[in-house]
Amino acid sequence: MFRTHTCGELRISDVNKQVTLAGWVQRSRKMGGMTFIDLRDRYGITQLVFNEEVDAALCESANRLGREFVIQITGTVNERFSKNTNIPTGDIEIIVSELNVLNAALTPPFTIEDNTDGGDDIRMKYRYLDLRRPSVRKNLELRHKMTIEVRRYLDSQGFIEVETPVLVGSTPEGARDFVVPSRMNPGQFYALPQSPQTLKQLLMVSGFDRYFQIAKCFRDEDLRADRQPEFTQIDCEMSFVEQDDIINLFEGMTKYLFKEIRGVELEGQFQRMAWADAMKYYGSDKPDLRFGMKFVELMDVLQGHGFSVFDNAAYIGGICAEGAAHYTRKQLDALTEFVKRPQIGAKGMVYARIEEDGTVKSSVDKFYTQEVLQKMKEAFGAKPGDLILILSGDDAMKTRKQLCELRLEMGNQLGLRDKNTFACLWVVDFPMFEWSEQENRLMAMHHPFTHPKDEDIDLLDTDPAAVRADAYDMVINGVEVGGGSIRIHDPKLQAKMFEILGFTPEKAEEQFGFLMNAFKYGAPPHGGLAYGLDRWVSLFAGLDSIRDCIAFPKNNSGRDVMLDAPAALDPSQLDELNLIVDIKE
Ligand code: AMO
Repeated sequence: MFRTHTCGELRISDVNKQVTLAGWVQRSRKMGGMTFIDLRDRYGITQLVFNEEVDAALCESANRLGREFVIQITGTVNERFSKNTNIPTGDIEIIVSELNVLNAALTPPFTIEDNTDGGDDIRMKYRYLDLRRPSVRKNLELRHKMTIEVRRYLDSQGFIEVETPVLVGSTPEGARDFVVPSRMNPGQFYALPQSPQTLKQLLMVSGFDRYFQIAKCFRDEDLRADRQPEFTQIDCEMSFVEQDDIINLFEGMTKYLFKEIRGVELEGQFQRMAWADAMKYYGSDKPDLRFGMKFVELMDVLQGHGFSVFDNAAYIGGICAEGAAHYTRKQLDALTEFVKRPQIGAKGMVYARIEEDGTVKSSVDKFYTQEVLQKMKEAFGAKPGDLILILSGDDAMKTRKQLCELRLEMGNQLGLRDKNTFACLWVVDFPMFEWSEQENRLMAMHHPFTHPKDEDIDLLDTDPAAVRADAYDMVINGVEVGGGSIRIHDPKLQAKMFEILGFTPEKAEEQFGFLMNAFKYGAPPHGGLAYGLDRWVSLFAGLDSIRDCIAFPKNNSGRDVMLDAPAALDPSQLDELNLIVDIKE
């Protein structure tokens, strides 16, 4: 037997026991004739003691151990004289009688501890060493617990887990596909699934009325802190359901996960907000509701007083930051610079402080009487000590998005985005389509299989841009953690949808014939949703990037720097695939 115990489990009640442990040398200290070694494994750290006076040769061997050597020791559990209250095993130590070096180790390129000296790049290159650090390991443990609890919950609700293929066909809608050349079919390519969307719909046609899968998805899109080119969905689909059935079931799962994983009881029904309201009041389809600062529109109040910036604007709106009137000129200038950054793109920012006596002092005082400024104050319900920040622009949606960035920044600056507070929200009634400037056509906002709202179906012919969908997203703390919809199960309606999206009947048949044909054989009404597992884990773990809860993530350029992928292929492999690489300039 390699070990009788792990490094995290021995306690004071084990004193005098003879034990064998195995693990990595975390650090070693020599004090007089004594050598102390911290031995680490997945479960914790135990202090080992070697005494020169008792066994000089053994102590000498211990002194030769380097960091991260893999060793096995046998010894006796002893009560520790100076206890370490920072670790659970801090009351004991092991008086070592036998030492066996299982493997030597090079000095690692960074220290294996939570406060490591290693930068991002080096830690990614040596990710297997990074994963030894307890803080990173904990994220993977949480991820494991999350998938176990998801399976437990969905199983209890009658869902069955079905695996779907990873080599599928390319689909034109959505993000860009990753593709895989086929050796047996020269010149033809598989695509990796962006999600198992159509396959899970086919499973509904097959009669599996409650399906789920913890599914790898692949999307060739620009990366951000909450986006990886390959990520994992908790993908679900149900038959004979309406939107509320799905929302209620997954709200139940959300509450279950919060309780089991975070020990948080979420009371009552989650808020539901129409997409149009989310955009109007928060400038985002994923508003962070941990704090207020709801937008107030000021066109009526502030237009027509001679301030040309506002007079010529298509939208004027602002937020009220409670108790922030103490912001200095320097801080306000920095906020103005913030909204003017190219990524945000505002032209400027107007501010107003509510003084102790209730008067309003603004950066555009010369254009507005106190009477008008008081009306503005009332529109916000602002109190003495509050700070009002206003943006305007010639495109209402763009300006709202800028105001959204400002609101989030103020939330950060005022400490209102606490990682241990959770605000859960369903955003509903999404538009069916959005206009793509790039493609110069309507695109499905969710995906082409989403059902339009029954009451809007007539608009498909007359005003498709106004059609709303039976689609919903779950948003927690400003992060889209999941989304789904009721699907079309009528082949005629599906054909119409493809037509609006600009597919000729032939093209629709070529791309989606398999689904439309399946629908001719008795498709039940169905709908579903997918949660982003990586985003959930990083939310629960309080991480800033989903990378930290993925064992082997890609960097921002989509590279795995440890495996050095992607990479060129060997010419013989290209030959086998019947491919010639000719990179365009
Ligand atoms: P959607 O595209 O909204 O829906 O994806 C569902 C959820 O997956 C997560 N997610 C991502 N996580 C990390 N990196 C990415 N690149 C990434 N992209 C998406 C998000 C998102 O809410 N088939 C539909 C679901 C359905 O209709 O049932 C779909 O894929 O948390």
